[in-house]
Amino acid sequence: MRGLHILLLICLFSFYLPSHSLGTNETDMFALLSFKSLISNSPLGTLSSWNDSLHYCLWQGVRCSNRHPNRVTALSLGSLSLSGHISPSLANLTFLKSLNLSDNQLTGNIPAELGHLSRLQNLNLSENNLAGNIPSTLGQIPHSIYNLSSMVSLSLSGNQLDGNLPSKFCDAFQSLQNLILYTNQLNGPIPISITNCSAMLQIDLSKNNFIGTIPDSIGTLRNLLMLGIFSNQIKAIGDDWKFFDSLINCTFLQLLDLGDNQLHGMLPRSIANLSTSLIYLGIYKSPISGNIPAEVGKLTNLATLQVYQTFIEGNIPEEIGNLWNLEGLGLDGNMLSGEIPSTLGNLSKLNFLHLDNNAFTGSIPEELSNMQLLNTLNLSHNKLIGLIPKNLFNLPSLSISLDLSNNYLNGSVPPEIGQLKNVQKVYLSNNKLSGQIPSTIDGCQLLQILHLDGNQLNGSIPFSLSNMRGLQDLDISNNSLSGTIPEFVGQMKLQNLNISFNNFKGELPKDGVFRNSSAVDTRGNSKLCGGVPEMHLPKCVLDKQKKKHNSKIVIVIICCIGGIICLCIEKGIT
Ligand SMILES: *[C@@H]1O[C@H](CO)[C@@H](O)[C@H](O)[C@H]1NC(C)=O
Ligand SMILES: *[C@@H]1O[C@H](CO)[C@@H](O)[C@H](O)[C@H]1NC(C)=O
Ligand SMILES: *[C@@H]1O[C@H](CO)[C@@H](O)[C@H](O)[C@H]1NC(C)=O
Ligand SMILES: *[C@@H]1O[C@H](CO)[C@@H](O)[C@H](O)[C@H]1NC(C)=O
Ligand SMILES: *[C@@H]1O[C@H](CO)[C@@H](O)[C@H](O)[C@H]1NC(C)=O
Ligand SMILES: *[C@@H]1O[C@H](CO)[C@@H](O)[C@H](O)[C@H]1NC(C)=O
Ligand SMILES: *[C@@H]1O[C@H](CO)[C@@H](O)[C@H](O)[C@H]1NC(C)=O
Ligand SMILES: *[C@@H]1O[C@H](CO)[C@@H](O)[C@H](O)[C@H]1NC(C)=O
Ligand SMILES: *[C@@H]1O[C@H](CO)[C@@H](O)[C@H](O)[C@H]1NC(C)=O
Ligand SMILES: *[C@@H]1O[C@H](CO)[C@@H](O)[C@H](O)[C@H]1NC(C)=O
Ligand SMILES: *[C@@H]1O[C@H](CO)[C@@H](O)[C@H](O)[C@H]1NC(C)=O
Ligand SMILES: *[C@@H]1O[C@H](CO)[C@@H](O)[C@H](O)[C@H]1NC(C)=O
Repeated sequence: MRGLHILLLICLFSFYLPSHSLGTNETDMFALLSFKSLISNSPLGTLSSWNDSLHYCLWQGVRCSNRHPNRVTALSLGSLSLSGHISPSLANLTFLKSLNLSDNQLTGNIPAELGHLSRLQNLNLSENNLAGNIPSTLGQIPHSIYNLSSMVSLSLSGNQLDGNLPSKFCDAFQSLQNLILYTNQLNGPIPISITNCSAMLQIDLSKNNFIGTIPDSIGTLRNLLMLGIFSNQIKAIGDDWKFFDSLINCTFLQLLDLGDNQLHGMLPRSIANLSTSLIYLGIYKSPISGNIPAEVGKLTNLATLQVYQTFIEGNIPEEIGNLWNLEGLGLDGNMLSGEIPSTLGNLSKLNFLHLDNNAFTGSIPEELSNMQLLNTLNLSHNKLIGLIPKNLFNLPSLSISLDLSNNYLNGSVPPEIGQLKNVQKVYLSNNKLSGQIPSTIDGCQLLQILHLDGNQLNGSIPFSLSNMRGLQDLDISNNSLSGTIPEFVGQMKLQNLNISFNNFKGELPKDGVFRNSSAVDTRGNSKLCGGVPEMHLPKCVLDKQKKKHNSKIVIVIICCIGGIICLCIEKGIT
């Protein structure tokens, strides 16, 4: 029996040695096979290639060391639709530097045994369905045994991990540069010791349930490039804001996202002393108050500034126009007032401008038309007055939406609106606009939604509307529009039509959108009639008159033909 065992072993060795001139370390091979045995599904066939026909160092996703032949240093099995559990046997791959199992469907826990992997530099288990705690052995405690001091990147984002981060988090991670834990269910406080990971470049704890405050000493992480903490339950009242002043010391910081937390109190003036390297700044959906300091104009590398849904008040400082790299500005849902500064027009790279839901007064600055890359403009729900500047429509880039609704804008809808060839949604509802719907409107060839309701528009529905093939939703309710509803409206692709509370008259078409009574609102037009029965409009009297009219014509024709025949007969006789 023993002889047979030895024979088997010799067979095993001889199989690998001559064919590949590679040696073997059974420990590593068995660790890989044990890993394979817990993968229940490998639909792309990746793991079926892990068989005797190739040395394990040549298996897909396996990389071995040059200096230590036959020792596995990297396992890269990302995005292969693997399901199953992560085997604790991986802990026996003691030369492993990189373990990438990201973007699969792995379930179960992260095996605590992985804490043995003292050479591990990159652990990426992001985008799986892993649950449970981050094992305390990964630090994230008895580090006389466990030692992950080589770890550079720890990515566990996009799982269902819960539990706390260990309070001595960084004692085990002296080399950690990237801590990527967003989108899990982690809770408890952010450990103060996190500021002991002196090599740290990126911290992303967003979309978890972290509580407590941001450590005051965060600024000791001098090399920090990114701090993402959005969508947690982090609070800041009074002295808790010290962390913000300390962030000034992170002179390389490029991204700071603190949005959707419980940050109370005044927006610190030190916002303007943050690193001029800053590219993204987000402080939104938090009960902060105070003003936007003029010095914010110093952050000239900013590409995105998101300060929305807060209690910030006062004016937008003119200096905002100095942020000439800005591509996105979200200041909506605040208590900002005063005039919209014309210097905004200097932001020639801006893609979106959200100033909706504030208390801005004055008129819309013409200079906004200088923002030739703008694709979304929302100024709705303010107190803006005056005319809509004509050259606002000289923005061919405006491809998503223009929303000027719920203001006090007056005058007519400028015919130049037809220059918005790429826009999909236009909302001018609830202003004081008068005059007719401009016939040039069909220039907006890609328009899907047009809301002109709640104004003082008059005249009839322009024929040019029939050219607007993509229009799905038309709301012209609550105006003083008149005339009949043209048949062509029934030939359009409309899914919603609101013509209520106008002075329309005559017969309602029966085709297209008019077939569906719930898609059309005709209330408040006492002279409308006909339509499909579900519309419950009175029958058209006009119908009978038409019939009478027709029969009269028939009689006249018969008389004429009769007369001609009589004439001919008479001529024939004479
Ligand atoms: C194989 O790996 C084990 C565990 O790391 C180690 O103890 C052993 O010395 C290695 N054997 C060879 C032949 O490298
Ligand atoms: C073994 O792996 C090779 C590629 O390494 C593959 O071509 C072969 O189909 C695999 N055999 C089985 C039985 O899966
Ligand atoms: C890990 O795998 C993912 C998906 O295949 C890939 O995008 C990523 O670059 C890999 N990263 C590392 C460091 O292994
Ligand atoms: C590591 O390998 C040894 C020897 O093959 C085995 O006894 C042990 O169970 C393995 N460890 C794990 C965590 O699988
Ligand atoms: C980890 O994996 C995710 C998903 O595949 C990938 O997007 C990310 O770049 C990886 N991170 C690192 C540090 O390798
Ligand atoms: C941890 O690993 C480093 C080098 O990787 C070594 O210098 C140190 O002694 C180890 N510590 C423990 C407690 O094993
Ligand atoms: C940071 O590390 C030092 C020693 O490495 C330790 O004395 C100190 O308590 C740690 N600080 C925190 C906040 O954990
Ligand atoms: C920031 O830097 C200043 C000057 O170097 C220093 O006095 C202060 O203690 C630092 N703050 C933090 C939190 O590192
Ligand atoms: C912040 O910047 C202002 C000038 O904009 C300067 O007066 C002030 O001293 C700075 N504060 C700190 C803490 O650097
Ligand atoms: C910024 O805008 C203002 C007002 O529109 C204008 O007077 C000024 O020349 C602009 N500055 C630059 C640098 O473009
Ligand atoms: C503009 O802002 C208002 C108020 O915040 C919002 O309700 C509306 O949906 C936005 N318009 C568009 C087109 O997104
Ligand atoms: C528009 O409103 C402004 C100020 O509210 C007023 O001065 C102006 O006469 C109005 N213009 C028109 C055309 O109604």
